[in-house]
Amino acid sequence: MRVRAIAFSSSANLGAGYDVLSMSHRAFNDVVYAELLDSGEGKIFIETDSSVPTDPSKNSASVPVEAIMEDYKIKGIIKLKIVKGIPPGLGLGSSGASAVAAVAAVSRLLDLNLSLEDIVKYAVLGEKAVSGSPHPDNVAASAFGGVVAVTSHDPFRIVRVAVNYDFKIMLIIPRLATGVGKTKRARELVPPKVELNKVVENARYLSSLMVGLIKGDRNLIQEGMNDSIVEKAREPLYPYYPKIREISLKYNSVGVCVSGAGPSVLVLYDEETELEKIKLGATDVCRGFGFDCDFVTTEIGGGVKVE
Ligand code: HSE
Repeated sequence: MRVRAIAFSSSANLGAGYDVLSMSHRAFNDVVYAELLDSGEGKIFIETDSSVPTDPSKNSASVPVEAIMEDYKIKGIIKLKIVKGIPPGLGLGSSGASAVAAVAAVSRLLDLNLSLEDIVKYAVLGEKAVSGSPHPDNVAASAFGGVVAVTSHDPFRIVRVAVNYDFKIMLIIPRLATGVGKTKRARELVPPKVELNKVVENARYLSSLMVGLIKGDRNLIQEGMNDSIVEKAREPLYPYYPKIREISLKYNSVGVCVSGAGPSVLVLYDEETELEKIKLGATDVCRGFGFDCDFVTTEIGGGVKVE
């Protein structure tokens, strides 16, 4: 028997929601096939045509599967075939989606009936293996779909945020080779302590964004998608972002923020947004920094699917 699972890309943080908020999108997806082998070496065998590591201790899809095999005392060998559709290292939840798809596929393969929270619990182990930290926001969005908030870590509790405003999504993706360890480096820039006035400012943003999404209030979403702490601390990694932000707001985007740890930028837009002007402006900004960027327009995505 071979099981196929598919998980969407995601943009974490959404401004001030560092490690808490995330949104899945239909822009890209990863597909993982899981199968039990009769013979072979080791516990997990990885096949992939992408550049992700095939060493099971370094791959975000296999590390959680290894933990499942330990917990459920699974004998035998699991083959994971990973078809990467989500480009890695661009802040689009690539490692998280592979992890979620692998866990969901193996859950079905072994009849474990894992809940979505359990899928998140295992999938974060994959995030830890590749970025050094078990942040749950990307995996929560890829598992549950839509906009999610992680409300508890131990045990994991995730709520889907009701989105009552009809926006679309544009990802601005710089053609930058960010390389392995990008998220780890980005996390090292986040200050361990921050001043209270910054915390208050961010609480204001987060509240505005939540209320704006739930009430369908465009102004609140626009005001709320902002961050005075993490985006600011990481600005050396994406010096082009403040200008792109300014242009996106000038041409009336519904909201703009860095996608996860960057370097991509998430823009929400509607019919009031002058999208082409944002594209032209962002292209100029990126070229000024010596690289081109791609634009992908898409919509909010659903949760992980298993077939
Ligand atoms: N919340 C995480 C971070 C997401 O910003 O480091 C990483 O994709």
